[in-house]
Amino acid sequence: MTILDLRADFSRFRRAAPRRINLAAHSHHEWPDVTFEAQMHCWDDAARLAGDKWRLVFGELLPFVQRGIAAILNLPDPSTIAIAPNTHEFLRRILSCFETKRAIRILTSDAEFHTLRRQLARLEEDGIVACTYIPADPPDAFPARFAEAAARGRYDLVFVSQVFFTTGGTCGEVDAVVAAVPDRETFIVIDGYHGFMARPTDLAKVADRVFYVGGGYKYAMAGEGVCFLHCPPGFGPRPRDTGWFAEFGALAAAPGKTIAYLRTAGASSVRRSIPWACTACTPYLPGWPHAASALRRCTRTLLR
Ligand SMILES: Cc1ncc(COP(=O)(O)O)c(C=O)c1O
Repeated sequence: MTILDLRADFSRFRRAAPRRINLAAHSHHEWPDVTFEAQMHCWDDAARLAGDKWRLVFGELLPFVQRGIAAILNLPDPSTIAIAPNTHEFLRRILSCFETKRAIRILTSDAEFHTLRRQLARLEEDGIVACTYIPADPPDAFPARFAEAAARGRYDLVFVSQVFFTTGGTCGEVDAVVAAVPDRETFIVIDGYHGFMARPTDLAKVADRVFYVGGGYKYAMAGEGVCFLHCPPGFGPRPRDTGWFAEFGALAAAPGKTIAYLRTAGASSVRRSIPWACTACTPYLPGWPHAASALRRCTRTLLR
């Protein structure tokens, strides 16, 4: 048997509380030393570069993190990955893509994390969403149960956890969830927070169809404040939750009649809009400096 001895990589947490025995595998786990160095790097970046640090953040750090996450999930195009401080922000952004004339029809499970559960419950009170909840128990039969419900179709959004935070049960293979949804326009979102870097996940075959959200707080060990969303091209070209950075480059011009979204060489605005609008929303948030250091932490943990 090979024993992986990582004590030297966690010396700071161990020194801070030598008598603590911490067996948490996620969230409350100890942080590796590289995250401390990354936090310091972030500060040094700001001191060294001041306003020019965004060139580093968007030109080097973000592409590095995107490439790292894409490699882990076997995604063909790293630029489909958006970054935000938490998954709720992505949820708001996705929900803001649907039409407002009728309730948004949502298929989900009864064991989603509070981020979705609370938000949907509140929107249901006002008739903004109409949800169908499939019981997560018993866990073995969940994939078949969920697929049967998805196959009935006519949903705007299918949202399900890859691994349930309640029981550790799973939604089954992501490819199978995708295959069960008949309507091409339905948004499919996999909450992969409890699967990312814990369960081997290959999104290559469904990268053009499925959203996948995860973050640094759990098995990625990058700490809190950095989440990501893989966005399949073409879904939700103009989220109502706009951020401001998606219009970067055109900000000096007089505002147009319609709200613009980023257009990059070789890619239509439709293709880029959600990732960029999402990435984009962070700079105006008070949490952004923390997100910059979280990005730094992410690069370090991905390099480990
Ligand atoms: C399945 C799942 N999704 C999402 C989250 C995190 O949500 P947020 O980033 O909104 O805090 C968690 C736990 O922190 C979780 O267990």
